[in-house]
Formats: sequence, C-alpha cells, structure tokens
Amino acid sequence: MPKIKSVYAREILDSRGNPTIETTVWSDNGRGAVASIPSGASIGRLEAFELRDGDPHRFDGLGVLKACANVNQLISKYVVGLDPLRQNDIDQILLNLDGTENKSKLGANAILSVSQACFELGASCAEIPTFEYTAQKYGFATPSPLHLPNPIFNLINGGKHGAGNLDFQEFHCIPSSRKSFSQSLEMASELYHLLKKTLIEKKATSSVGDEGGYAPNLVSNTDAIELLVETIESSPYKLNEDVYLGLDIAATSLYRSNKYKISDIKDPLTGSQFADFLIDLNRKYSLLSIEDPFDQDAWEDWESLTAGLGKQLMIVGDDLLVTNLSRLQEAIKRSACNAILVKPNQIGTISETVSVIKLAKANNFSVIVSHRSGDTDEDFLADFAVGVEADFVKFGAPGRGERVAKYNRLLFIQEYLESLHPTQ
Ligand code: PGA
Ligand code: ZN
Repeated sequence: MPKIKSVYAREILDSRGNPTIETTVWSDNGRGAVASIPSGASIGRLEAFELRDGDPHRFDGLGVLKACANVNQLISKYVVGLDPLRQNDIDQILLNLDGTENKSKLGANAILSVSQACFELGASCAEIPTFEYTAQKYGFATPSPLHLPNPIFNLINGGKHGAGNLDFQEFHCIPSSRKSFSQSLEMASELYHLLKKTLIEKKATSSVGDEGGYAPNLVSNTDAIELLVETIESSPYKLNEDVYLGLDIAATSLYRSNKYKISDIKDPLTGSQFADFLIDLNRKYSLLSIEDPFDQDAWEDWESLTAGLGKQLMIVGDDLLVTNLSRLQEAIKRSACNAILVKPNQIGTISETVSVIKLAKANNFSVIVSHRSGDTDEDFLADFAVGVEADFVKFGAPGRGERVAKYNRLLFIQEYLESLHPTQ
C-alpha cells in the first residue's frame, strides 16, 4: 500500500494574473502529482469559501499565502501517511479538519488543492490514466471514444468577463453530438477565426475576454447572437444541424432591485418579462441551452421557465446550484432546472463533487463539467469529465493556453481510447 510522504502548497498565478494555490503531493513509492485551483469572477452566493489573504500590500489583497500555510502547517500533518487510493477517507479528514459549512476555516481553495492532488496521485499509483481511475473508483461506465463529453465553446465574452455593452456573460457555439470531439474542436477553431474576421470587418474591436472568447464592442446581446449566426452562415457548417447556440446569462450579475437590466431593452424587466424575452430568443434561434437565466434566488422564475422550455433545451443551474447537494435537492424537488454546471471549486472536494454528479444523473439532469474564468494550465477537468460520463464540458474558447490545455487533453483521450477500441 503506497503512503503519502509529503504535501506542499505554493502560490502561483492564474490566467487573470491573480494568485492561486498549487499543491504537490508525493508518495513513498516515488510518485508525485500537482493540482492548481481556478477562481471565478461571477461567484454564486453559496459557493464554498475561497480564502484570500486580504493584505492590501500584496496582490491587492488577493494573495493566497494563508491558504498555502493551512496546507503546509496543518493539513499536511493529517494527510501524510494516508493511502492516496483512499480518496473518500482523505476528503473526510479534510472536511473534519475544516469543520465549517462552507469551508471558511481552511479555505475551499486549500482543501480542493489537496483533495485533487491526492486524487491524481491515486491514479498515478494505480498506474492508469486519471479518466479511467475516476470511472473505476466511482463506478461510472468504462470510457469509450464514442461517448466523450460534448464541448461547449464560449466564443463571445460579456458581463464580468468582457468589456462594453454585452450583459450576457457567454455566447456559446455547441457542435452537434454526432461529431467526434476532434471534429467539434476543428469546427470551433474555424468558427473562432471566422468570427474574428467578421468582427474586424464590422469594426467591432476583437480583443478577447477572460475565457478567450472575443469581447466585442456591440450595441446589444441580440447583436452578439446575430454575429454568431452570421459567422456560422458564412462557414461550411449549418446552424441547428452541425452546430447550436447557447447562452450563459449569469443573470445574478444583472439583477438590480428585483429587475433585469439589459442593453437590448430600455426599461428594466421583471422576472416574467425577462422570461418572455428569453422565450422569444429561443423561438428565433432554437437555443440548445440557457445557463443561469435568473437570479440565484429567484426560484419561481426558474420553475416557470423550466415548465415552459425544459422539454426543448437545457436550463442550466450554475450560481443557482453551486455544485452543492442540498441546492441540487431543492432544484429537483421544485423542477427548477434540468442541467447542472459542475465546478469542483464551488464545493471543495472531489468526493462531494462526485456525489453531486451522481444525484444529478439519477434525476436525469444533464451534467456539464466546467472550468472557471480565472484558470490555470491544469488539464485535470478533461479527465474528470470523461471519467464521470459528463454530457458536456465547458472550457471556454478554443484559444488561450489555460483553455486549450483541457481541450488538447480531450484530444489525447480520444486518440488513446480509439487505439484501445480500433473498430469504434
Ligand atoms: P466564473 O464564470 O468562473 O467567473 O464564475 C463561469 C460561469 O459562470 O460559468
Ligand atoms: Zn455560469
């Protein structure tokens, strides 16, 4: 039985240039694993607590030296000596050490960095790739090249990730599930470059936002959707056949005094007026998914939109559900949505993340494994998504290192699985 020999956390930078934590673990059989933790900009009210130093003299208060110290001075004492293959025991020890509802004592960033690094070390000690280890450990189906998660590409960034007038946070292109992962990635890359050309022609600036999608200077959200339609129409691909559209409204960010203010319409909209606006958009564009259409606490609006559109498209809970078992239970009870965005750092351990995925699947929710807007070159999520049989992955645009690290890992996994199943 291998044993964890050392655990060490350090401060590195994420893709936004902000500090984040990276933890390295070693086992006594000479194996090692590293995990770095991403960070969000549009953060749900009930997400697990991300511990930052708050020292104005370092990184404007965003340093994570306290989180690193919690790993190096406290957590390591309890984790050294454990078997890296016993993930649930490791995570339980982390939960006991913290002892709070939202991991506010040690920080979910500190805790997840250890949980994830130990999980990767377990895979290494088991001498199998992390995606296979995930599937075996938690009883998911053996991964097959035909059932890789479908990618959701974020080609236009607005809201807290962009610049200018776009209030909606993400404008997605979603290749048809009939395409292989590599075909989907090729299509997304071609559309990404065509979109840039279209933006330059229209003299809408083409800088990129936090997730690598363009952050153009447009008048309204509908203009951004139209631009995607135009781009697809100028490509060899067919809208709503080869590729579909989706949105992450991140509506909590545009909710003020019980109303939604968007650049498309002069006056702020009530929840039901905003629902009508979204229903109209769907009538026009046949969307495949709408994420966070309403504020994170506007349960009734979620329920009525899901009752109206839930059979046609995915209504995705991100800030609503925050990868949290009790929020998901509430959403199931209320039929408030039919898909869940899964971000391990919203909850803080691998085991809890898997429990949420299992409950979601048992209730026929679609599962979308997602990065964060501030991310690192970590590719763990690609393996994790394949291992848990996620329906979709959302890793941003097909550009920028921290985004393509994950897409490129999926390419590798596809090729690896095809070599094992040459006839599929
Ligand atoms: P975040 O955004 O990482 O800034 O929270 C991602 C999302 O809302 O899906
Ligand atoms: Zn979101």
